Amino acid sequence: MTDGPGLDALTHDLDRAHVFHSWSAQAALDPLVIAGGLGTRVWDHAGRTYLDFSSQLVNVNIGHQHPAVVNAIREQAELLATIAPSTANLTRGEAAKRIVARAPEGFSKVFFTNGGADANENAIRLARLHTGRDKVLSRYRSYHGNTGAAIVATGDWRRIPNEYARGHVHFFGPYLYRSEFWATSPEEETARALHHLERVVQAEGASGIAAILLESIPGTAGIMVPPPGYLAGVRAICDRYGILLILDEVMAGFGRTGRWFAFHGHDVVPDLITFAKGVNSGYVPVGGVIISDEIAATFDERVFPGGLTYSGHPLAAASIVATLDAMESEGIVENARRVGAEVIGPALRSLGEKHEVIGEVRGEGVFWALELVADRATREPLPAAAMGALKKDLLARGLLPFVQDNRIHVVPPCVVTDDDVAEAVEIYDAALAAL
Ligand SMILES: Cc1ncc(COP(=O)(O)O)c(C=O)c1O
Repeated sequence: MTDGPGLDALTHDLDRAHVFHSWSAQAALDPLVIAGGLGTRVWDHAGRTYLDFSSQLVNVNIGHQHPAVVNAIREQAELLATIAPSTANLTRGEAAKRIVARAPEGFSKVFFTNGGADANENAIRLARLHTGRDKVLSRYRSYHGNTGAAIVATGDWRRIPNEYARGHVHFFGPYLYRSEFWATSPEEETARALHHLERVVQAEGASGIAAILLESIPGTAGIMVPPPGYLAGVRAICDRYGILLILDEVMAGFGRTGRWFAFHGHDVVPDLITFAKGVNSGYVPVGGVIISDEIAATFDERVFPGGLTYSGHPLAAASIVATLDAMESEGIVENARRVGAEVIGPALRSLGEKHEVIGEVRGEGVFWALELVADRATREPLPAAAMGALKKDLLARGLLPFVQDNRIHVVPPCVVTDDDVAEAVEIYDAALAAL
């Protein structure tokens, strides 16, 4: 029997010998060993525990090892572990029913995928086929996934080496802290960002544009909550030119903002909604597209030319049913809203007053960013070396952070408690002071 530290060493060695990691040069990798978790905590084999303020890849909304979800997966595995997508399956139907129940009126159908990228891939396919148009507009500073069209729709460095798909055009969205529009207020940012978008639509040839694809709140790109009126304004532009609106709720959806969908409260109804992560907190890989009735009707008589062996996989479906039921009955979305408004927001703002290095604090629910700067006046981003040191220090102090570019994303599970937040804020405070 190997001891705890021995198992950590074995895990690390096996990983380094045989596992090829995402988005990385492989040689210098030194991945953290995680052996178990519960709620807001994870630990290694030796018993070293971390407060998980990353929710892994911002997906474990319900927390680690929720017993109802684990049991539902176990029970479904005993009943029927897998089945072809062309069959009708009770658990799959129950999962789809619960998902559309959170969508606006006029959405009755779900196409299940394996994750978020292929959700966007299929939303783009649906939009192109429904409209008979080709182009897809999406914003710089966005992430939509790693597959063909999704990665080219993405607006960060990861698009550049992957530009195989055609018909994608990018535009700038609102981001007041680093405004592309010389705006000095949210109202100006909204008006100018919408003007810019409409000019791009016209310049690209509006009649050839199938869809505008947007994260309701860009997540990995920096948790930029859109200023009032922006999403409704995009909807109006779409309506003026017969363009579909796809809202990517993969990261922001299913409770992270303290609402079931991030677009709720923005006075906007999209045509297609993509989801993944929070729908079952990633206990089994799954994603999907929620399809408006009008678009779904296009494929009543016409073949939808898309499919996946694991579309609506029963283990994923069972985990969705249990996750959404538990989130509802345990008030988990309300918890995210309350903790965000009453605890995380005020605590991070007071960190912002104390530490010169924090240029901006923004977010809602359990979806916050601390934007770190070398100089508050110029807003020059804190250099990568300092961010690396900060990440290391946070880990050493027992907090698993989400660090992206010059930002710390404060993104705990939606079940986070006031005490967890107090503990985390103390750790952020100490690490920022030590910078
Ligand atoms: C907004 C958004 N869309 C799509 C994706 C891609 O999801 P997946 O990694 O499950 O393919 C992500 C992943 O982080 C995301 O944040």
